[in-house]
Amino acid sequence: MDLVETKIARGAEIPEEVHEHPVLKFPPGFLWGSSTSSHQVEGGNDKNDWWEWEKKPHHIADGTLSGSASGHYARYKEDFALARNNHQNAHRLSIEWSRVEPTKGEWNVSELRHYRDVLMELKSHSFTVMLTLHHFTIPTWLADEGGWENPRTIFYFNRFVKWVADELGDLVDIWVTVNEPMIYVSQGYLYGAWPPGKKSIISSYRVFRNLTRAHKKAYLTLHDTLDRRDRTVKVGIAQNVISFEPYRRHKMIDMWFVRFADRLWNHWFFSRTKRHHDFIGINYYFHYRVAFVPRDYAHFFFQVRNENREVSDVGWEVYPPGIFRVIADMASYGKPMYITENGIAVTNDDKRNRFIVAHVKEIYHAIAAGMDVRGYFHWSLLDNFEWEKGFGPRFGLIEVDYATMERRPRKSLGIYGEIAQENGIKHDLLRFLGHMVK
Ligand code: BGC
Repeated sequence: MDLVETKIARGAEIPEEVHEHPVLKFPPGFLWGSSTSSHQVEGGNDKNDWWEWEKKPHHIADGTLSGSASGHYARYKEDFALARNNHQNAHRLSIEWSRVEPTKGEWNVSELRHYRDVLMELKSHSFTVMLTLHHFTIPTWLADEGGWENPRTIFYFNRFVKWVADELGDLVDIWVTVNEPMIYVSQGYLYGAWPPGKKSIISSYRVFRNLTRAHKKAYLTLHDTLDRRDRTVKVGIAQNVISFEPYRRHKMIDMWFVRFADRLWNHWFFSRTKRHHDFIGINYYFHYRVAFVPRDYAHFFFQVRNENREVSDVGWEVYPPGIFRVIADMASYGKPMYITENGIAVTNDDKRNRFIVAHVKEIYHAIAAGMDVRGYFHWSLLDNFEWEKGFGPRFGLIEVDYATMERRPRKSLGIYGEIAQENGIKHDLLRFLGHMVK
Protein backbone atom coordinates (compact mmCIF):
# COMPACT_ATOMS: atom_id res chain seq x y z
CA MET A 1 0.00 0.00 0.00
CA ASP A 2 1.47 3.38 -0.87
CA LEU A 3 1.55 6.47 1.29
CA VAL A 4 -1.64 8.04 -0.01
CA GLU A 5 -3.68 4.91 0.42
CA THR A 6 -2.32 4.40 3.91
CA LYS A 7 -3.39 7.86 4.98
CA ILE A 8 -6.80 7.46 3.45
CA ALA A 9 -7.17 4.17 5.18
CA ARG A 10 -6.51 5.92 8.44
CA GLY A 11 -9.14 8.49 7.66
CA ALA A 12 -6.70 11.36 7.17
CA GLU A 13 -7.34 14.09 4.64
CA ILE A 14 -6.19 13.46 1.11
CA PRO A 15 -2.93 15.39 0.74
CA GLU A 16 -2.89 18.41 -1.53
CA GLU A 17 -0.55 16.95 -4.13
CA VAL A 18 -2.95 14.18 -5.17
CA HIS A 19 -5.03 16.86 -6.83
CA GLU A 20 -2.18 17.77 -9.11
CA HIS A 21 -2.21 15.53 -12.10
CA PRO A 22 1.10 14.12 -13.19
CA VAL A 23 2.57 15.07 -16.54
CA LEU A 24 4.16 12.20 -18.43
CA LYS A 25 7.45 14.01 -18.89
CA PHE A 26 10.00 13.22 -21.59
CA PRO A 27 13.76 13.60 -21.14
CA PRO A 28 15.09 17.15 -21.55
CA GLY A 29 16.08 17.91 -25.13
CA PHE A 30 13.64 15.42 -26.63
CA LEU A 31 12.91 16.29 -30.26
CA TRP A 32 9.33 16.99 -31.30
CA GLY A 33 9.06 17.37 -35.04
CA SER A 34 7.27 16.39 -38.18
CA SER A 35 8.46 14.86 -41.45
CA THR A 36 7.98 15.47 -45.15
CA SER A 37 9.70 14.31 -48.32
CA SER A 38 10.57 16.42 -51.35
CA HIS A 39 8.49 14.75 -54.03
CA GLN A 40 5.43 14.50 -51.82
CA VAL A 41 5.25 18.18 -50.86
CA GLU A 42 7.38 20.42 -53.06
CA GLY A 43 5.67 20.25 -56.43
CA GLY A 44 7.24 20.51 -59.87
CA ASN A 45 9.73 17.66 -59.45
CA ASP A 46 9.65 16.91 -63.14
CA LYS A 47 13.12 15.45 -63.48
CA ASN A 48 12.70 12.30 -61.44
CA ASP A 49 11.45 8.79 -62.14
CA TRP A 50 8.17 9.26 -60.27
CA TRP A 51 7.10 12.17 -62.47
CA GLU A 52 7.33 9.88 -65.50
CA TRP A 53 5.71 6.94 -63.72
CA GLU A 54 2.66 8.97 -62.66
CA LYS A 55 1.77 9.79 -66.24
CA LYS A 56 1.12 6.16 -67.20
CA PRO A 57 -2.45 4.85 -66.80
CA HIS A 58 -3.39 2.99 -63.60
CA HIS A 59 -0.18 3.80 -61.79
CA ILE A 60 -1.83 6.25 -59.41
CA ALA A 61 -5.08 5.00 -57.87
CA ASP A 62 -7.08 8.22 -58.24
CA GLY A 63 -5.42 9.24 -61.49
CA THR A 64 -3.83 12.35 -59.98
CA LEU A 65 -0.31 13.56 -60.75
CA SER A 66 2.03 14.98 -58.14
CA GLY A 67 2.04 18.24 -60.13
CA SER A 68 2.26 21.14 -57.69
CA ALA A 69 2.01 18.66 -54.76
CA SER A 70 1.47 20.72 -51.58
CA GLY A 71 3.16 23.79 -52.98
CA HIS A 72 5.80 23.58 -50.27
CA TYR A 73 8.65 24.60 -52.58
CA ALA A 74 7.23 28.13 -52.59
CA ARG A 75 5.53 28.12 -49.19
CA TYR A 76 8.09 26.50 -46.94
CA LYS A 77 8.42 29.64 -44.79
CA GLU A 78 4.72 29.66 -43.97
CA ASP A 79 4.79 25.92 -43.24
CA PHE A 80 7.80 26.08 -40.94
CA ALA A 81 6.32 29.05 -39.09
CA LEU A 82 3.17 27.01 -38.41
CA ALA A 83 5.27 24.15 -37.04
CA ARG A 84 7.32 26.48 -34.89
CA ASN A 85 4.32 28.42 -33.58
CA ASN A 86 2.99 25.07 -32.49
CA HIS A 87 6.11 24.36 -30.46
CA GLN A 88 7.85 21.82 -32.66
CA ASN A 89 11.61 21.99 -32.20
CA ALA A 90 12.82 19.69 -34.98
CA HIS A 91 12.03 18.99 -38.60
CA ARG A 92 12.75 16.16 -41.03
CA LEU A 93 12.78 16.84 -44.77
CA SER A 94 14.46 15.41 -47.84
CA ILE A 95 16.59 16.95 -50.55
CA GLU A 96 15.52 16.15 -54.10
CA TRP A 97 18.45 14.62 -55.94
CA SER A 98 16.89 15.33 -59.34
CA ARG A 99 16.77 19.04 -58.58
CA VAL A 100 20.39 19.40 -57.58
CA GLU A 101 21.72 17.05 -60.26
CA PRO A 102 19.15 17.29 -63.07
CA THR A 103 21.72 16.18 -65.63
CA LYS A 104 24.38 13.61 -64.91
CA GLY A 105 27.40 15.25 -63.28
CA GLU A 106 26.02 18.80 -63.48
CA TRP A 107 25.05 20.53 -60.30
CA ASN A 108 22.27 23.07 -60.34
CA VAL A 109 23.54 25.94 -58.26
CA SER A 110 20.26 27.80 -57.97
CA GLU A 111 18.52 24.71 -56.59
CA LEU A 112 21.33 24.35 -54.14
CA ARG A 113 20.77 27.96 -53.07
CA HIS A 114 17.11 27.14 -52.60
CA TYR A 115 17.91 24.29 -50.21
CA ARG A 116 20.36 26.53 -48.37
CA ASP A 117 17.55 29.04 -47.89
CA VAL A 118 15.22 26.28 -46.72
CA LEU A 119 17.70 24.96 -44.16
CA MET A 120 18.59 28.47 -43.00
CA GLU A 121 14.92 29.19 -42.48
CA LEU A 122 14.71 26.10 -40.27
CA LYS A 123 17.78 27.22 -38.36
CA SER A 124 16.33 30.72 -37.91
CA HIS A 125 13.57 28.98 -35.92
CA SER A 126 16.20 26.96 -34.02
CA PHE A 127 14.94 23.66 -35.36
CA THR A 128 17.12 20.57 -35.11
CA VAL A 129 17.37 19.53 -38.74
CA MET A 130 17.16 15.95 -39.99
CA LEU A 131 17.87 15.64 -43.71
CA THR A 132 17.06 12.58 -45.83
CA LEU A 133 19.21 12.07 -48.90
CA HIS A 134 17.17 9.39 -50.65
CA HIS A 135 13.41 9.32 -50.18
CA PHE A 136 12.22 7.00 -52.97
CA THR A 137 12.87 9.24 -56.02
CA ILE A 138 15.88 9.22 -58.34
CA PRO A 139 16.79 11.52 -61.24
CA THR A 140 15.44 10.41 -64.61
CA TRP A 141 18.96 10.19 -66.09
CA LEU A 142 19.85 7.69 -63.38
CA ALA A 143 16.68 5.65 -63.89
CA ASP A 144 17.67 5.44 -67.56
CA GLU A 145 20.99 3.94 -66.49
CA GLY A 146 19.29 1.18 -64.51
CA GLY A 147 18.76 2.99 -61.20
CA TRP A 148 19.61 1.04 -58.08
CA GLU A 149 20.02 -2.22 -59.97
CA ASN A 150 23.17 -0.76 -61.48
CA PRO A 151 26.10 -0.98 -59.02
CA ARG A 152 27.45 2.27 -60.49
CA THR A 153 24.59 4.05 -58.71
CA ILE A 154 26.52 3.55 -55.47
CA PHE A 155 29.21 5.81 -56.89
CA TYR A 156 26.71 8.37 -58.21
CA PHE A 157 24.90 8.48 -54.90
CA ASN A 158 28.11 8.93 -52.99
CA ARG A 159 29.14 11.79 -55.26
CA PHE A 160 25.78 13.46 -54.58
CA VAL A 161 26.13 12.86 -50.84
CA LYS A 162 29.62 14.36 -50.79
CA TRP A 163 28.43 17.40 -52.65
CA VAL A 164 25.48 17.97 -50.33
CA ALA A 165 27.71 17.48 -47.30
CA ASP A 166 30.23 20.03 -48.60
CA GLU A 167 27.60 22.59 -49.48
CA LEU A 168 24.95 22.18 -46.81
CA GLY A 169 26.60 20.17 -44.06
CA ASP A 170 26.87 23.12 -41.68
CA LEU A 171 23.06 23.34 -41.52
CA VAL A 172 22.20 19.70 -40.88
CA ASP A 173 22.26 17.93 -37.51
CA ILE A 174 21.09 14.42 -38.33
CA TRP A 175 21.44 12.58 -41.64
CA VAL A 176 19.20 9.86 -43.00
CA THR A 177 20.94 8.30 -45.97
CA VAL A 178 18.10 6.10 -47.21
CA ASN A 179 14.43 6.13 -46.33
CA GLU A 180 12.77 2.72 -45.93
CA PRO A 181 15.00 0.51 -48.07
CA MET A 182 12.70 -2.49 -47.65
CA ILE A 183 9.65 -0.56 -48.86
CA TYR A 184 11.66 0.80 -51.77
CA VAL A 185 12.81 -2.66 -52.81
CA SER A 186 9.48 -4.40 -52.36
CA GLN A 187 7.28 -1.76 -53.97
CA GLY A 188 9.53 -1.09 -56.95
CA TYR A 189 11.11 -4.48 -57.62
CA LEU A 190 8.96 -7.20 -56.04
CA TYR A 191 5.34 -6.01 -56.32
CA GLY A 192 5.88 -3.71 -59.28
CA ALA A 193 3.69 -1.00 -57.78
CA TRP A 194 6.31 1.77 -57.95
CA PRO A 195 8.91 2.65 -60.53
CA PRO A 196 10.50 0.84 -62.24
CA GLY A 197 7.58 -1.59 -61.87
CA LYS A 198 9.58 -4.82 -61.72
CA LYS A 199 8.51 -8.11 -60.21
CA SER A 200 11.72 -10.00 -59.75
CA ILE A 201 13.37 -11.54 -56.72
CA ILE A 202 16.77 -11.26 -58.37
CA SER A 203 16.36 -7.54 -59.11
CA SER A 204 15.05 -7.03 -55.59
CA TYR A 205 18.13 -8.64 -54.12
CA ARG A 206 20.45 -6.58 -56.33
CA VAL A 207 18.80 -3.34 -55.29
CA PHE A 208 18.85 -4.36 -51.64
CA ARG A 209 22.56 -5.16 -51.83
CA ASN A 210 23.39 -1.92 -53.65
CA LEU A 211 21.45 0.10 -51.09
CA THR A 212 23.34 -1.51 -48.20
CA ARG A 213 26.63 -0.66 -49.91
CA ALA A 214 25.53 2.85 -50.75
CA HIS A 215 24.48 3.44 -47.17
CA LYS A 216 27.82 2.26 -45.78
CA LYS A 217 29.73 4.44 -48.21
CA ALA A 218 27.56 7.47 -47.51
CA TYR A 219 27.98 6.90 -43.77
CA LEU A 220 31.75 7.08 -44.12
CA THR A 221 31.63 10.04 -46.52
CA LEU A 222 29.46 12.09 -44.18
CA HIS A 223 31.71 11.40 -41.23
CA ASP A 224 34.91 12.02 -43.20
CA THR A 225 33.57 15.28 -44.57
CA LEU A 226 31.83 16.73 -41.57
CA ASP A 227 33.27 15.47 -38.31
CA ARG A 228 35.26 18.05 -36.39
CA ARG A 229 36.89 17.77 -33.04
CA ASP A 230 33.94 19.50 -31.40
CA ARG A 231 31.12 18.10 -33.52
CA THR A 232 30.41 14.65 -34.89
CA VAL A 233 27.44 14.20 -37.17
CA LYS A 234 24.82 11.54 -36.67
CA VAL A 235 24.09 9.24 -39.59
CA GLY A 236 21.55 6.46 -39.97
CA ILE A 237 18.59 5.25 -42.00
CA ALA A 238 14.83 5.41 -41.51
CA GLN A 239 13.62 1.84 -41.42
CA ASN A 240 9.99 0.86 -41.85
CA VAL A 241 9.68 -1.44 -38.83
CA ILE A 242 6.62 -3.67 -38.71
CA SER A 243 5.09 -4.99 -35.52
CA PHE A 244 4.35 -8.60 -36.47
CA GLU A 245 2.00 -10.88 -34.62
CA PRO A 246 0.82 -14.41 -35.48
CA TYR A 247 -2.81 -14.34 -36.57
CA ARG A 248 -3.41 -17.75 -34.98
CA ARG A 249 -1.39 -17.70 -31.80
CA HIS A 250 -1.56 -21.44 -31.34
CA LYS A 251 -0.32 -22.23 -34.87
CA MET A 252 3.37 -23.02 -35.05
CA ILE A 253 3.45 -22.13 -38.72
CA ASP A 254 2.17 -18.57 -38.12
CA MET A 255 4.58 -18.13 -35.24
CA TRP A 256 7.47 -19.36 -37.31
CA PHE A 257 6.52 -17.13 -40.21
CA VAL A 258 6.36 -14.08 -37.94
CA ARG A 259 9.90 -14.74 -36.74
CA PHE A 260 11.12 -15.13 -40.26
CA ALA A 261 9.35 -11.94 -41.40
CA ASP A 262 10.81 -9.98 -38.49
CA ARG A 263 14.37 -11.09 -39.31
CA LEU A 264 13.93 -10.41 -42.98
CA TRP A 265 11.95 -7.18 -42.99
CA ASN A 266 13.06 -5.44 -39.81
CA HIS A 267 16.63 -6.63 -39.34
CA TRP A 268 18.22 -7.78 -42.58
CA PHE A 269 19.38 -4.33 -43.68
CA PHE A 270 20.92 -3.68 -40.26
CA SER A 271 22.62 -7.05 -40.19
CA ARG A 272 24.32 -6.17 -43.50
CA THR A 273 25.37 -2.68 -42.42
CA LYS A 274 26.63 -3.26 -38.90
CA ARG A 275 28.86 -0.54 -37.44
CA HIS A 276 27.41 2.02 -39.88
CA HIS A 277 24.61 3.45 -37.78
CA ASP A 278 24.83 6.16 -35.16
CA PHE A 279 21.14 5.82 -34.45
CA ILE A 280 18.20 3.70 -35.49
CA GLY A 281 15.44 5.58 -37.30
CA ILE A 282 12.04 3.91 -36.96
CA ASN A 283 9.06 4.57 -39.21
CA TYR A 284 6.11 2.90 -37.55
CA TYR A 285 2.86 2.42 -39.46
CA PHE A 286 2.09 -1.28 -39.53
CA HIS A 287 0.88 -3.92 -37.15
CA TYR A 288 0.54 -7.13 -39.13
CA ARG A 289 -1.45 -10.09 -37.85
CA VAL A 290 0.06 -12.59 -40.16
CA ALA A 291 -1.46 -15.85 -41.32
CA PHE A 292 0.63 -18.29 -43.33
CA VAL A 293 -1.33 -19.36 -46.41
CA PRO A 294 0.56 -22.04 -48.37
CA ARG A 295 -1.45 -21.60 -51.56
CA ASP A 296 -1.14 -17.84 -51.74
CA TYR A 297 2.16 -17.80 -53.57
CA ALA A 298 1.22 -14.51 -55.28
CA HIS A 299 1.54 -12.84 -51.87
CA PHE A 300 4.58 -14.83 -50.80
CA PHE A 301 2.46 -17.24 -48.74
CA PHE A 302 1.11 -14.82 -46.19
CA GLN A 303 -1.91 -12.66 -45.56
CA VAL A 304 -2.37 -9.74 -43.19
CA ARG A 305 -5.69 -9.93 -41.39
CA ASN A 306 -7.25 -7.09 -39.47
CA GLU A 307 -10.97 -7.79 -39.52
CA ASN A 308 -12.86 -6.10 -36.64
CA ARG A 309 -9.90 -3.86 -35.88
CA GLU A 310 -9.64 -0.11 -35.98
CA VAL A 311 -8.17 1.02 -39.25
CA SER A 312 -7.24 4.31 -40.89
CA ASP A 313 -8.85 5.66 -44.07
CA VAL A 314 -6.41 3.53 -46.07
CA GLY A 315 -7.18 0.34 -44.13
CA TRP A 316 -4.06 0.18 -41.98
CA GLU A 317 -4.66 -1.14 -38.50
CA VAL A 318 -4.29 1.40 -35.70
CA TYR A 319 -2.29 -0.32 -32.99
CA PRO A 320 -0.43 1.97 -30.57
CA PRO A 321 1.22 -0.84 -28.51
CA GLY A 322 3.03 -1.82 -31.71
CA ILE A 323 5.27 1.22 -31.44
CA PHE A 324 6.40 0.03 -28.00
CA ARG A 325 7.14 -3.38 -29.47
CA VAL A 326 9.17 -2.12 -32.39
CA ILE A 327 11.16 0.19 -30.14
CA ALA A 328 11.87 -2.76 -27.84
CA ASP A 329 12.86 -4.83 -30.87
CA MET A 330 15.24 -2.17 -32.22
CA ALA A 331 16.68 -1.44 -28.78
CA SER A 332 18.72 -4.60 -29.24
CA TYR A 333 21.22 -2.59 -31.33
CA GLY A 334 22.14 -0.50 -28.30
CA LYS A 335 21.87 2.76 -30.28
CA PRO A 336 19.83 5.89 -29.71
CA MET A 337 16.52 5.73 -31.55
CA TYR A 338 14.38 8.31 -33.30
CA ILE A 339 10.84 7.77 -34.45
CA THR A 340 11.50 9.21 -37.89
CA GLU A 341 7.87 8.74 -39.00
CA ASN A 342 4.54 7.80 -37.47
CA GLY A 343 1.16 9.03 -38.59
CA ILE A 344 -2.31 8.23 -39.84
CA ALA A 345 -4.31 8.93 -42.98
CA VAL A 346 -7.67 10.23 -41.73
CA THR A 347 -10.06 13.01 -42.50
CA ASN A 348 -11.54 12.67 -39.01
CA ASP A 349 -9.02 14.71 -37.05
CA ASP A 350 -10.29 13.42 -33.69
CA LYS A 351 -8.84 10.08 -34.69
CA ARG A 352 -5.50 11.75 -35.34
CA ASN A 353 -5.56 13.33 -31.88
CA ARG A 354 -6.16 9.99 -30.28
CA PHE A 355 -3.56 8.39 -32.49
CA ILE A 356 -0.92 10.92 -31.47
CA VAL A 357 -1.60 10.79 -27.75
CA ALA A 358 -1.80 7.00 -27.74
CA HIS A 359 1.45 6.51 -29.66
CA VAL A 360 3.38 9.16 -27.76
CA LYS A 361 2.22 7.56 -24.51
CA GLU A 362 3.66 4.23 -25.65
CA ILE A 363 6.95 5.98 -26.35
CA TYR A 364 6.83 7.46 -22.88
CA HIS A 365 6.54 3.94 -21.46
CA ALA A 366 9.39 2.71 -23.64
CA ILE A 367 11.64 5.47 -22.33
CA ALA A 368 10.52 4.80 -18.77
CA ALA A 369 11.53 1.17 -19.33
CA GLY A 370 15.04 2.32 -20.22
CA MET A 371 14.90 2.50 -24.01
CA ASP A 372 16.89 5.31 -25.54
CA VAL A 373 14.39 7.19 -27.74
CA ARG A 374 15.52 10.74 -28.52
CA GLY A 375 12.81 12.18 -30.74
CA TYR A 376 9.47 11.80 -32.49
CA PHE A 377 8.72 13.06 -36.00
CA HIS A 378 5.07 12.94 -36.93
CA TRP A 379 4.19 12.08 -40.52
CA SER A 380 3.34 14.53 -41.83
CA LEU A 381 3.43 18.26 -41.35
CA LEU A 382 1.21 18.71 -44.41
CA ASP A 383 -1.28 16.77 -46.47
CA ASN A 384 0.68 15.51 -49.46
CA PHE A 385 1.04 13.23 -52.45
CA GLU A 386 0.82 9.69 -51.10
CA TRP A 387 2.66 7.86 -53.89
CA GLU A 388 0.52 5.27 -55.72
CA LYS A 389 -2.55 6.36 -53.76
CA GLY A 390 -2.44 9.95 -55.01
CA PHE A 391 -3.82 12.87 -53.01
CA GLY A 392 -6.71 11.03 -51.34
CA PRO A 393 -5.11 10.04 -48.01
CA ARG A 394 -4.79 12.92 -45.55
CA PHE A 395 -1.76 12.53 -43.31
CA GLY A 396 -1.22 16.19 -42.44
CA LEU A 397 -1.27 18.08 -39.17
CA ILE A 398 -2.06 20.89 -41.59
CA GLU A 399 -4.80 20.49 -44.16
CA VAL A 400 -3.91 21.63 -47.66
CA ASP A 401 -6.61 22.89 -50.01
CA TYR A 402 -5.08 21.67 -53.26
CA ALA A 403 -7.14 24.08 -55.38
CA THR A 404 -5.81 27.21 -53.65
CA MET A 405 -2.84 25.82 -51.68
CA GLU A 406 -4.36 27.42 -48.62
CA ARG A 407 -3.12 25.97 -45.32
CA ARG A 408 -5.67 25.06 -42.65
CA PRO A 409 -4.05 23.94 -39.43
CA ARG A 410 -5.91 21.00 -37.98
CA LYS A 411 -6.72 20.75 -34.31
CA SER A 412 -4.16 17.95 -34.09
CA LEU A 413 -1.39 20.44 -34.91
CA GLY A 414 -2.31 22.21 -31.68
CA ILE A 415 -2.70 19.02 -29.64
CA TYR A 416 0.70 17.82 -30.80
CA GLY A 417 2.01 21.31 -30.04
CA GLU A 418 0.75 21.03 -26.46
CA ILE A 419 2.76 17.86 -26.04
CA ALA A 420 5.84 19.48 -27.56
CA GLN A 421 5.50 22.60 -25.41
CA GLU A 422 5.09 20.57 -22.24
CA ASN A 423 7.74 18.07 -23.32
CA GLY A 424 5.25 15.53 -22.11
CA ILE A 425 1.61 14.53 -21.96
CA LYS A 426 -0.56 16.51 -19.63
CA HIS A 427 -3.26 14.63 -17.82
CA ASP A 428 -6.14 16.27 -19.66
CA LEU A 429 -4.83 15.00 -23.01
CA LEU A 430 -5.37 11.46 -21.82
CA ARG A 431 -9.06 12.10 -22.49
CA PHE A 432 -8.28 11.30 -26.11
CA LEU A 433 -7.46 7.72 -25.25
CA GLY A 434 -10.00 4.95 -25.49
CA HIS A 435 -11.69 3.46 -28.48
CA MET A 436 -11.91 5.29 -31.69
CA VAL A 437 -15.27 6.25 -33.03
CA LYS A 438 -15.47 4.63 -36.44
C1 BGC B 1 7.07 6.88 -46.33
C2 BGC B 1 6.32 8.13 -46.70
C3 BGC B 1 4.85 7.81 -46.84
C4 BGC B 1 4.35 7.31 -45.51
C5 BGC B 1 2.87 6.98 -45.48
C6 BGC B 1 6.37 6.00 -45.37
O1 BGC B 1 6.44 4.70 -45.85
O2 BGC B 1 8.37 7.19 -45.94
O3 BGC B 1 6.86 8.65 -47.87
O4 BGC B 1 4.09 8.88 -47.27
O5 BGC B 1 5.04 6.14 -45.18
O6 BGC B 1 2.60 5.94 -46.36
